[in-house]
Amino acid sequence: MRIAHFSDIHVTASTADIPWRAMLSKRIVGWLNLQLLGREEDFREAEEITAALVKDIQQVEADHILFTGDLTGLALDSEFERARLLLKPILDSENITGIPGNHDFYVPAAAQDGTYDRHFGSWERSELANPPPIVRLLGEEAALIALRDSRPNAFHDSSGMVGADQLKKLGAVLADPALEGRRKLLALHYGPRRSTGEPDSRFHGLRDAEELLAAASAGGVELLLHGHLHNRFVLPAGGSTPITITTPGSATHSRYERAYHLIDLGPGGIELSARRYDPDTGGFSEWPEAPGSGLLAPPV
Ligand SMILES: [Fe+2]
Ligand SMILES: [Fe+2]
Repeated sequence: MRIAHFSDIHVTASTADIPWRAMLSKRIVGWLNLQLLGREEDFREAEEITAALVKDIQQVEADHILFTGDLTGLALDSEFERARLLLKPILDSENITGIPGNHDFYVPAAAQDGTYDRHFGSWERSELANPPPIVRLLGEEAALIALRDSRPNAFHDSSGMVGADQLKKLGAVLADPALEGRRKLLALHYGPRRSTGEPDSRFHGLRDAEELLAAASAGGVELLLHGHLHNRFVLPAGGSTPITITTPGSATHSRYERAYHLIDLGPGGIELSARRYDPDTGGFSEWPEAPGSGLLAPPV
């Protein structure tokens, strides 16, 4: 069983193309980020790299694809439409699970209008009723569970929250007989730990990170997969976290590695490898020395 995990493509409208009416909201903060803090520059190649990523993912023979949020920059309809075009070859696959990130709910209007759901709701198929959490039963050996932890926030806030209701449902899902005997992987947008093992900040991280780690650990989750933090890393279980945590980082952010992960579950255990973007070839290729790659969990 092979899972391809990518995140945070941030297809972002150029500042010149953003209608002024759309700016009368938190988007003005995003616009200032784009203009003054170089974010437009950070994601200037997002479209080309996403196209190369989709091409590569189609060639690595993944049984399932996981996307962990932040398709867009400002949750504009035009950005979602652009993302749909770029992701078209995998858009309607039965074998993809995707969740929104905070940038996909950047303003309350985008969340209330159901913009994300309209464009990417098909990525939230679940084999157990009443999602979220979404549950996908993968082959005979694995279960992928995915949460919704992003929400529209005030101007100064980009934090996430799983919430007490969803945490309770997560506990029930992890104990469901349908998951018995399967290796459990949990996906969300926010990382409960930074690459250093410390929790993220109050206004950038997951507010209920400790509760989530406790519920996931008690329910037998072996691997936690997330996005939001744009630097890729693998944080092994032990010390600061009871569960191994990994993020491929942003696939398109020019200041980082622009990678995605392959997670292989087989008789040898759970193994991770990375592929990264090469600006010289304009494509993705193997990255054998990616820190943290190799065996994440032994055979059961
Ligand atoms: Fe992001
Ligand atoms: Fe994010």
